Amino acid sequence: MERIQKRIASCGVASRRKAEELIKEGRVKVNGVVVETLGYKLNPNDEVTVDDVVIAKVQKQYYVLNKPRAVISSVEDEHSRKTVLDFCSKEMLKDRLYPVGRLDYDTSGVLILTNDGEFANMIIHPRYHLPKTYRVMVNGILETESIKKMEKGVELEDGLTLPAKVRVRKKDFNIKKTTFDLTIQEGRNHQVKRMCEYFGHEVTSL
Ligand code: URA
Repeated sequence: MERIQKRIASCGVASRRKAEELIKEGRVKVNGVVVETLGYKLNPNDEVTVDDVVIAKVQKQYYVLNKPRAVISSVEDEHSRKTVLDFCSKEMLKDRLYPVGRLDYDTSGVLILTNDGEFANMIIHPRYHLPKTYRVMVNGILETESIKKMEKGVELEDGLTLPAKVRVRKKDFNIKKTTFDLTIQEGRNHQVKRMCEYFGHEVTSL
């Protein structure tokens, strides 16, 4: 059962607060009958109207994008750089998609686009500790001691990082580069790059 003001808000008609006003003003009907009770519980098939216009449920959409480098993870860019929405058709854009979380301009990888705010929140909110794995290449050879510390927690300027997991894939002593997978439970700004910089390693590919 869904509360009436939540349905009105999720259909994009108004914010929850504005929806409450519409209800109090007697402008909302359920199956043709005015409902002025805030929190009125709807059955899935109940028809809701605002000013006698039926409000349609917004179809929730989810896309997985393989974001290339040189693309910005937002819906617009003041410097006219390519954004993740440049990969969407006109049809897709009708759904007001936005990216779930961010990858840096020079980072490539999986990014979900959706119009489902609750879902997006569950993915990015630190409370849920959703693990995210990054394939990282850094300059230099990553020492075992640094790996242990990286896994335990690194003191960055915005606080200690949560426990992480490192899986070394390649230590190339010829070109002095290390490739590893880093799994973190948070999504702080530039977190992976900052964790590597802490140990003196510049990220060359993410
Ligand atoms: N950490 C970074 O430093 N950059 C990203 O794009 C993602 C995680």
